[in-house]
Amino acid sequence: MTTPWQQRYSQRMKWMGSSIIRELLKLTEKPDIISFAGGLPAPEVFPVKEFEAATQQVLAEHGSRALQYGTTEGYGPLREYIVRRMSRYGIEAEPENVLITSGSQQALDLIGKILINPGDLILTEQPTYVGAIQAWRAYQAEFATVPIDDEGLRTDLLEEALCAGPKFMYILPNFQNPAGVTLSLKRRMKLLEIADRYGIPIIEDDPYGQLRYEGDHLPSLVALDAQKLNGRGVSGNGMGFFRGNVIYLSTFSKTLAPGLRLGWVVAPKEVIKRCVMGKQGMDLHTSTFVQMVAYEVIKDGFLDEHVRHIRRVYRERRDVMLAAMERYFPPEVHWTIPAGGLFLWITLPESLNTTQLLEKAVENKVAYVPGSAFDPAGDSLNTARLNFSNARPENIELGIKRLGQVFETAIQQGLTRETSPIVTDVQLLGVN
Ligand SMILES: Cc1ncc(COP(=O)(O)O)c(C=O)c1O
Repeated sequence: MTTPWQQRYSQRMKWMGSSIIRELLKLTEKPDIISFAGGLPAPEVFPVKEFEAATQQVLAEHGSRALQYGTTEGYGPLREYIVRRMSRYGIEAEPENVLITSGSQQALDLIGKILINPGDLILTEQPTYVGAIQAWRAYQAEFATVPIDDEGLRTDLLEEALCAGPKFMYILPNFQNPAGVTLSLKRRMKLLEIADRYGIPIIEDDPYGQLRYEGDHLPSLVALDAQKLNGRGVSGNGMGFFRGNVIYLSTFSKTLAPGLRLGWVVAPKEVIKRCVMGKQGMDLHTSTFVQMVAYEVIKDGFLDEHVRHIRRVYRERRDVMLAAMERYFPPEVHWTIPAGGLFLWITLPESLNTTQLLEKAVENKVAYVPGSAFDPAGDSLNTARLNFSNARPENIELGIKRLGQVFETAIQQGLTRETSPIVTDVQLLGVN
């Protein structure tokens, strides 16, 4: 049956793509399945009581302001808080360099809106964050990729890829989603040097930087880039500190709660101005109420204590997953060892296809995200992402045991890539 809408969808919809993986992941939502698929934080760590108290306080003390429209740039005290917090990590910004967004996902969409013309080439890591691919496809971006290894982006392969002339690079330096790897300091410096030489800017996406379970904090690209410029005598001069090559994104989704939908962009003022114009057409501003309540929760130091707690919980879960993999995975399976974040990445023998195997995994009541979801070209067929933050330790152990059996059987039977996909042409939401 034809509907009045069928002929009216924009051409953009063609680019917004469909994914068999998202349909498969619907299967993973059944309650008896141990899912390592979502990118979800542990609900046990959400600071519910603190939000309850802060909500009452905000309504009692600033109720009419909290329920009123606000400025697009965001709630002033929250922007100042973000500036203070980032300066601890060497990111020296002014509040005017900060735009509060409805999650980092909105920041990615805004970047697409203000920077991408149809056909523009964007350079990403391979694999990269699926939500960025999805956001930028809608603006008809094309993608070039550079592989990663245990030290993050392969900077030795970068220059060749830059010859294709990308508009910008999208980099996840800390505990990358999906692979869990961290860009080494040496490669951060190399990346910035190359970016500078080729004049290609960087979008640095850093939702997980605070969730480090071992080792020392590494300076962000935006901080290193600013140091470099300052060394050359290029400083703020009243135009704002951020004049360099890097736009920085972060979020409260992993340190407070994703349901808040609170993220931020740090950028030169001229970029913030464009983002503000873009955001006005989307949602006018991020919820005043949510910004004020979140600020009330964190303003007196709660976040430090809370992040310490989250780190303890997730470190334990990561360790349980790694130990179980040692125990139950066949020797042909390899995985990354993340120093933080929420994910690790597994690689099976070349002949196996993790999209096909997901059906078997779900029959065995365990789930993951096939790696091809994170590859703009849809390759990486023998890889998968596992999340370790959401399931409880006892379920992690059991889920990995089940997965080990699925992989063992597949390796023995030599399941190959040739089989046709199980589900085709569906479109769903929900992987992050
Ligand atoms: C790399 C990356 N960027 C952005 C986001 C979106 O985060 P938010 O919840 O702030 O929209 C995520 C969420 O998982 C992510 O992993």
